[in-house]
Amino acid sequence: MSKNPFKKVFVFLDTDKHASPFDILTLIDIFPDAQVLKYENVTVEDAEKIVYDLMFPRGPEGAKHTKIFIGGSDFKRANEILEKIKKCMFPPFELAVVVDPKGAYTTASAAVAKTLELSKKRGLGDLEGKTVAVLAGTGPVGKTAARLYAMEKANVIITSRELQRASAVATKINEELETERARGVEAETSEEIGKAIENVDIILSTGAAGTQILPLNVLREYGKNCRIVADVNAIPPLGVEGLDSKADGVEFLPNIFGIGALAIGTFKNRIEVELFRKSAEAPKGIFDYKAAYKIAKSMIKTETEWWSSTVPF
Ligand SMILES: NC(=O)c1ccc[n+]([C@@H]2O[C@H](COP(=O)([O-])OP(=O)(O)OC[C@H]3O[C@@H](n4cnc5c(N)ncnc54)[C@H](OP(=O)(O)O)[C@@H]3O)[C@@H](O)[C@H]2O)c1
Repeated sequence: MSKNPFKKVFVFLDTDKHASPFDILTLIDIFPDAQVLKYENVTVEDAEKIVYDLMFPRGPEGAKHTKIFIGGSDFKRANEILEKIKKCMFPPFELAVVVDPKGAYTTASAAVAKTLELSKKRGLGDLEGKTVAVLAGTGPVGKTAARLYAMEKANVIITSRELQRASAVATKINEELETERARGVEAETSEEIGKAIENVDIILSTGAAGTQILPLNVLREYGKNCRIVADVNAIPPLGVEGLDSKADGVEFLPNIFGIGALAIGTFKNRIEVELFRKSAEAPKGIFDYKAAYKIAKSMIKTETEWWSSTVPF
């Protein structure tokens, strides 16, 4: 049997000054023999030049073993790089491309899938028709989570300290998904945040690291209809006061079940591993937030599994 002559090569295109070691280390632990190349401060123009030089030297067969990862904290530029790369590639020189700027796609996928899982576990069903508040939903994680909830046919309230920012996120989601499910709301004071969560079933807090978004007294007073609260900020002060970052579906207020940032983060890491594995196996393809969410959904327990794991026979 002839030996496959092509080593797997993962090429990291990062928008930041230093490529994040998070994704590189995750990859090396899955594929210790893979070769890693990294480019930093990558612009859209740089990406175009780099991708052409990735497509051709190994021929069509080698292209199947060359993978691109787009990362970095510039969410907008990362997506522009993706669009440029998609335009550059053509058969038979198409590469598999993973995109996960600052972990936003895998984190949002983990958060949304975990709230879906908990909703099913608690007998509340899936996300369709539910009302979800994505608090401080104007960053990369919040925007992606809000979009995933809208894709699941939930009604989504996106909050921001500035109405214009929240509305811009909602408008983009509504336009791209051709729905009216997303709505932007200004919420900075406790009362404004309280009003935003008054009639919601699920809250996902996606505020910046080390920023408390939802004080416990506000949740107690206004969150009477809410059954699930999740937070992605693992750096104290946490996004939701009183919600332990390791909480994984525990009842932390009467009839309110919580998922903390570390529970989401652990699941996020598993999703990222699968995303890398799938991109490594596939000769080509785009592995973006939709792919990450599909993986996340495939990893959560189904209603039947919850039922059979809680009812011993
Ligand atoms: N678990 C993981 O693996 C993982 C991975 C990635 C990210 N994360 C966490 O996910 C969260 C969201 O990440 P991100 O990159 O999307 O966040 P981000 O862009 O840094 O911030 C999200 C939003 O937080 C709001 N905000 C910022 N400072 C604030 C303040 N002082 N008070 C109130 N609101 C404030 C802003 O909204 P407005 O200005 O519009 O109000 C901002 O758009 C972070 O906590 C991050 O650490 C976790």
